[in-house]
Formats: sequence, structure tokens, C-alpha cells
Amino acid sequence: MGAGDAVTQRLMTPAVEANGARIPLVGLGTWGLRGRACARVVEQALRLGYRHIDTAEMYDNEREVGEGLRASGVRRDDVFVATKVWPSHFAPRELERAAKDSLARLRLPEVDLLLLHWPNPKIPLSETMGALCKVKSMGLVRHIGISNFTVALIEEAVRLATEPLVCNQVELHPFLDQSKVIAACRADRMAVVAYSPIARGRVKGNAVLGRVGRAHNKSAAQVCLRFLVQQGIVVIPRTSRVERLSENFAIFDFVLSEDEITEIAALGSREGRVVDWAYSGSPKWD
Ligand SMILES: NC(=O)c1ccc[n+]([C@@H]2O[C@H](COP(=O)([O-])OP(=O)(O)OC[C@H]3O[C@@H](n4cnc5c(N)ncnc54)[C@H](OP(=O)(O)O)[C@@H]3O)[C@@H](O)[C@H]2O)c1
Repeated sequence: MGAGDAVTQRLMTPAVEANGARIPLVGLGTWGLRGRACARVVEQALRLGYRHIDTAEMYDNEREVGEGLRASGVRRDDVFVATKVWPSHFAPRELERAAKDSLARLRLPEVDLLLLHWPNPKIPLSETMGALCKVKSMGLVRHIGISNFTVALIEEAVRLATEPLVCNQVELHPFLDQSKVIAACRADRMAVVAYSPIARGRVKGNAVLGRVGRAHNKSAAQVCLRFLVQQGIVVIPRTSRVERLSENFAIFDFVLSEDEITEIAALGSREGRVVDWAYSGSPKWD
């Protein structure tokens, strides 16, 4: 790919600006992708135009994400790479070690974004935020953020941080009402990154999404992703299938009407989670 092509690709990938970061609106989620299959999907996604990859030390695939990135031939600076520190590594020295280990596995000198994966009530947030801000000032990461933080914890994290937090990554799809968390993020100019944005595939059989999709010649999954990005929310759908990579990326050539947005928003409830929050009591955090 020549320099001109890279510029064109970058312009083709819409992004949100948040506290100094420019985050591409569609990223590839990689939880559950492993080994050669992971590297291949990452490579294909980048070749198709994805410019944002989401991984985590817990996913045990950072090595393969790095391989896919290099195999794609896309310039490193054109890709937004996000990873996460697991809560058992939130003590300051461990956090710095975990960040360096992630970089070593990815074989990158820095990542674009490092997130705290889940809050850990057993380690003072002040210490963890201090360590997170330090890895940024050390130049190991370009931006920092949080994941699975509630409204109260978002406010506490922002108060404690000496560097800007650019996002909170939370479960978000049409079946889950996260309006309070979204409002709290926006109040602090943070982006919202939606994980499990197609509700782990459950959007597929939904009648409303199916009907709206037929009106636009799109699938229920595409309507669901469009619903989120049209509100400025970043989405990171995961797929292990190359054909679905294109489907999940082809969401910028149609627009949902206000009525359609309202109808889809009405599918959401506070109880609509598909991801188990039992993590918050996980003994792995000790
Ligand atoms: N921060 C956190 O705590 C956290 C928690 C969970 C997830 N995440 C991140 O968010 C990413 C996405 O979330 P997720 O993996 O939980 O769920 P998801 O992206 O909502 O759904 C993935 C599932 O949907 C299927 N799928 C993909 N595209 C589809 C389409 N167009 N039509 C129908 N089905 C489709 C996939 O199957 P196929 O593979 O067969 O296509 C897979 O089973 C993760 O991979 C991870 O990077 C973060």
C-alpha cells in the first residue's frame, strides 16, 4: 500500500475525538480468538479497512494480534491498538510490569490505549490510577482509559487521574440501557466504547432490527452497529469469520431515521446484559 492509499484509508474510517485521542468508530474485538486463526482474522480485518484492534492481556492473544498487524502491511501509525491490564495486576509495580509484558507480546514500543479491564475493589483506585498515568508519562502508551466502570467509579477515576482518560469500555447494545454511564462519560469528554455490541450474536433474531434492516437492505447486526456509531459510540464487534468482517464494517453507507433510532432504543433495559458481571467478585483479583 502506498502513502496515498494509507491516507485514503484513514479518511475512510470515521473516528471520534476524545480528550486528545482519535478513536476509529469500528474496531475488531478479539476475545476468544487464538493462535493462527486470530492472526489471520486481524490481518484480514486490517486489509479490509479496520483501523482499530481491541485486545487484552487476559485474552492470551496479544502475540497473534501483533503478528496479524505486521502481516497486514498496514502502517503501524494507521492502526489504533488497544489492550487492557487485568485487575490482579493493579498494584503499581505490577501494572507497569503488565504494560511492558503486553508491549513485548505485541512486539510494539507503545500501544494507543491501555485500559483498566475491570475495577478492583481490593486495590485503592488512587494507587492504580497513579500507575496508569505513570505508564503514559513514560511513553509506553499513548492514551489511557477504563473499562466496566460505573458512574461513581468514572467520577472517582477522573478525579484521581493526572492524565486525561479517553474512554470507558462497557457492555452496550440495543438490549442494554447504559444511558447513565454514557452521560457520565460525555460529561468528562470521554468516548464510550461498546463491547459485545451485537449482544454476542443475539441481535440476529430480533424482529425490530430485522425489519429496520430490510428497509435499508442491511442485516440486523449492521443495524445494531449503525445504531451505536450514529450516536458517536465506538463499536468493537468480534467475529472469527472473514465474511462477517466486511458485514460488520459496512455500516457507513446508510442512516437510521430518528423514528428508527427511537424504536431501537426502546428495546433496551437495565437488565439486558449478556456478559456475566460475576467477574467483579472473581477470586482471580486477589
Ligand atoms: N472490556 C471488557 O470487559 C470486555 C468484555 C467482553 C468483550 N470485550 C471486547 O468486545 C469484543 C466484542 O464483544 P464480544 O466478543 O463479547 O461479543 P460480540 O462482538 O457482540 O459478538 C460476537 C459473537 O457474534 C457473532 N457475530 C459476529 N458478527 C456477526 C454478524 N454480523 N451476525 C451475526 N453474528 C455475528 C460471532 O460469531 P462468529 O465468530 O461465528 O462470527 C460471535 O459469536 C470482544 O471480542 C472483546 O474485544 C471487552
